[in-house]
Amino acid sequence: MLNELDQLETQAIGELEAVGDAQALEAWRVKYLGTKGRLKAIMPRIKDVSASEKPAVGKRLNVLKQRLGAAFDEKTAIIERQSGRQAGPMIDVTEPGLLCGQGRRHVITRTIDEITEVFARMGFSVVYGPEIEDEWHNFDALNIPKDHPARDPIDNFYLERPDPASAPARPGGGLMLRSQTSTVQIRTMAKVKPPLKVISVGRVYRPDTHDATHYSMFHQVEGLYVDHNVTMVDLKTTLFQFARAYFGPEAEVRMRPSFFPFTEPSAEVDMKMKVKGQWQWVELGGCGMVDPNVYEAVGYDPEEWTGFAFGLGIERIAMRKYGIADIRWLFENDARFLRQF
Ligand code: DAH
Repeated sequence: MLNELDQLETQAIGELEAVGDAQALEAWRVKYLGTKGRLKAIMPRIKDVSASEKPAVGKRLNVLKQRLGAAFDEKTAIIERQSGRQAGPMIDVTEPGLLCGQGRRHVITRTIDEITEVFARMGFSVVYGPEIEDEWHNFDALNIPKDHPARDPIDNFYLERPDPASAPARPGGGLMLRSQTSTVQIRTMAKVKPPLKVISVGRVYRPDTHDATHYSMFHQVEGLYVDHNVTMVDLKTTLFQFARAYFGPEAEVRMRPSFFPFTEPSAEVDMKMKVKGQWQWVELGGCGMVDPNVYEAVGYDPEEWTGFAFGLGIERIAMRKYGIADIRWLFENDARFLRQF
């Protein structure tokens, strides 16, 4: 019986090798593996095998069944491939590969770099200041009196000291997240003797309720120029040149009288820029001539030095320039949005 099974295997495999198409393959399957096939026909004869041989024969039969089944599957795959049908997953080797996602700068970072470059060409160097600030730099030194509404806790992120007993707050020494980059004017003047010409770009924080135009964190660019005989003409010329260089040769600048404690006189700055193809006036921030009280706070002689300062909102610039309707989109970090810029 064992011999017979060996012979059956040799014969079946031999015939399978000769099979060349689906029809022959099906005929082979019926002959060997079918319900009336050779393998099935052998089964009833097991009962005639002697008890001592039975386990070996049973085992051999199982092996034979497996081998023929495996050989059949293999041949099926070969025949399908030959006839153009796919056995495995479709792979089109001529298709172009997937591109790896390429990183890029955030649209705000890009705007900051562009703005910085324009001011650098006008001779401004870049300085930085901390985002955690004390009230002296954020308010007192900027001539903002103790009872000024800009200090209202509702409009500022004041920080609690970890241990007020061991670190008692000096007057004006309470900590907060800076609400404006004008703080860096103070930090720079306190360190550097005039003349100086600097810009500072960075984050500022105010507890605004988030909506399409408000966010509790945004960016400003602050400018400061202190020298002998600096006038409002220099201020307007600087802003005008920035507008032309950044928004194009048709851009314009408008200054509207206003009030800021750290400048006298003060003005609001509007720039005429292209918004969705239309030229429009957009309010960007404030500016003015540095107030003598500010010079005194940092130890500059107000009789000797003159200067201008300005502060512009970066998001306002970027949103108009790139047609972004909602400030929240800038900080949700949705790659589908950010990839567009
Ligand atoms: N710090 C002001 C703000 O956040 C903007 C500003 C106004 C900055 C006038 C200046 C300035 O330097 O001179 O609203």
